[in-house]
Amino acid sequence: MATRVAVLASGTGSNFVALVEAQRAGRMDPAQIVVMVCNRPGAAVIERARGLGVEALVLPDEDYDSREAFEAELIEALRDRGVDMIVLAGFMRILSPKFLEAFPRIINVHPALLPAFPGKDGIGDALAYGVHVTGVTVHYVDAGIDTGPIIMQEAVEITPGEIRETLAPRIHAVEHRLLPRAVQLEAGGRLRVKGRRVVLFDPEETL
Ligand code: GRF
Repeated sequence: MATRVAVLASGTGSNFVALVEAQRAGRMDPAQIVVMVCNRPGAAVIERARGLGVEALVLPDEDYDSREAFEAELIEALRDRGVDMIVLAGFMRILSPKFLEAFPRIINVHPALLPAFPGKDGIGDALAYGVHVTGVTVHYVDAGIDTGPIIMQEAVEITPGEIRETLAPRIHAVEHRLLPRAVQLEAGGRLRVKGRRVVLFDPEETL
């Protein structure tokens, strides 16, 4: 049976496109994207979803007086569509503990090696700090900012003279590879969370 996935995004949507492409290439079974939800009208991801024939649901931040009101509508929309699993792909809004209770295993992709450089600008912060190695983290979402248990990480070297324009595409290329794989593992029930650790569960293994 398919795992019905909602992708939440606010921006360009390159990770969203990578997820759709992975699904269509058969690299994400049993995950099936049923809707893309965006909180920023005008974001490029909206047209990209429509172009790919995926429903784009726009819930503009400014239409809601409170986080509760926004999330109540979001939860209803997700339930209406029978969503089992949520993926954040550049979703620039913090979700409340109540929302996380409704959907406990949400996956996010972050453009740095957490716990280094959490927050809005993982790429810029790594460059500004002068680290020689940064990377990509795919993790579960908890109530903190980019603090949930880590599913996957991959390092990306920062070369001398590197600038955002050269580093960002290299980071994104890794994101586009890691995120669909993590979604597939989660959708297939292959991941177990033990405290802060996420381990791969082998269905052949006897417990
Ligand atoms: C990605 O770098 C992701 O790690 C971060 O937001 C960015 C979204 O990019 N959370 P895109 O909209 O998927 O192109």
